[in-house]
Amino acid sequence: MENTKQWDEMQKHIEFVYKYNQEFTLKHGRQPACHLRTYGCQQNVSDGEKIKGVLAEMGYTFTDRTQDADLIIYNTCAVRENAEDRVFGNAGALKQLKSKNPDLIIGLCGCMMQQQHIADKIRASFQHVDLVFGTRALRRIPELLHQKLCGKKRVFDLSGEDEIVEGMPIRRDGSIKAWVPVMYGCNNFCTYCVVPFVRGRERSREPDQIIEEVRRLVSDGYREIMLLGQNVNSYGKTLSPPMSFSALLRKLDRIPGEFRIRFMTSHPKDCTRELIDTIAAGYKIARHLHLPVQSGSDRILAAMNRRYTSAEYLSLIDYAREKIPGMTFTSDIIVGFPGETEQDFRQTLELVRRVEYLSLFTFIYSRRVGTKAAEMDDPVSKEEKLRWFQQLLDTQAQIGDRAYESLVGQTVRVLVDSPGKTGDGVLAGRTESNVIVECGAPAEKMGSFQNVRITGALKWALLGKMA
Ligand code: 5AD
Ligand code: SF4
Repeated sequence: MENTKQWDEMQKHIEFVYKYNQEFTLKHGRQPACHLRTYGCQQNVSDGEKIKGVLAEMGYTFTDRTQDADLIIYNTCAVRENAEDRVFGNAGALKQLKSKNPDLIIGLCGCMMQQQHIADKIRASFQHVDLVFGTRALRRIPELLHQKLCGKKRVFDLSGEDEIVEGMPIRRDGSIKAWVPVMYGCNNFCTYCVVPFVRGRERSREPDQIIEEVRRLVSDGYREIMLLGQNVNSYGKTLSPPMSFSALLRKLDRIPGEFRIRFMTSHPKDCTRELIDTIAAGYKIARHLHLPVQSGSDRILAAMNRRYTSAEYLSLIDYAREKIPGMTFTSDIIVGFPGETEQDFRQTLELVRRVEYLSLFTFIYSRRVGTKAAEMDDPVSKEEKLRWFQQLLDTQAQIGDRAYESLVGQTVRVLVDSPGKTGDGVLAGRTESNVIVECGAPAEKMGSFQNVRITGALKWALLGKMA
């Protein structure tokens, strides 16, 4: 942690909670256990790893079962209504556990809590929730727990500056792939999106901090580094001196060792030809781009405040395809944005067919309080939107099948990273495009790169044989 005063403050609270937990351990013959559940995007997963890191320093162990937990934390997502509904449902169900065990501490944190109307609802109707904190309070977790353990009934902390906190302990979920945030927040205010309201303004980590973290991860044996940001292409704009995301990538690409670099998410308006050239010239940068288009209609793109046209988007895709053989694309698409017509939707289908994405993340528009789109007329029925949604899924399913089948016969480089489904004890891997390859690798190949000849294609994976 950079700021020593903040660090000293935090240590004081860590020490208090640690001692409290030592006494707990002596009394109960076991360490207190935390159940942390993370909803939503990779940034949330990365935050979850920091929450676990700081809890582990305070003497907590971790459990998958809420019944065994002394501390339950839900790290929430606000991006769509169904994610919020799930949190309300699951948090409501904890009331029973709390009535059986009044010492149980229940916490809710993350993006949802950063919205005033949600915090108010929790305050009024979820009395069994003890701790509520937002996306900017991670370094104050020890202090909040300290207050709670000292007898304060409920602790709410939704304040906080748009700061960057370096040096938080991290307890990573895996040993092969690591998340590395490069920037936080978003300045784009796409009219449907709640993220700029709950994660604050864009701010970038210093390149030296990122480079050092990646170096350490690679020397610890990590083989895939996923750089994270709501809009990685605006990385470095606020640094002094400023630095482009491409320049950061070039520096990371030069770190010695065998590993792969991925990044997400790229905003098409900031995705430069320099970035494509950097991927083309890179040794370790995956030749794959997740480039959310959201819609194929220029009218809807303008209403979304995306600040590019479908033609500009397509010309970027064409440039990348020309420069980088084998380049693949994935995207996010929203169906049923307020005012979208059948004709707008047809343009989205057309664009999807033209790009031939490897896969898509598709969403039905969800109205978010406080956003501009929430005020727009939304006359299309839910049934109609569902019909469009299904058409989009069907279209992409055909395109995806063709894309997978076109790989049969090729030899691809795969990072062996997970249990396979084609037999006992065998492993599967991922291509540069992040497609699962059931390659039947033996256990000792975990975490290694292998050349695999693709022999077949399923709906959800490729089949292959190690070369
Ligand atoms: N409704 C539906 N989808 C949304 N997304 C963001 N906000 C909304 C919303 N209000 C989608 C976008 C974004 C992805 C992470 O979530 O497609 O790229
Ligand atoms: Fe939301 Fe747009 Fe920012 Fe992405 S770029 S987080 S969609 S406002």
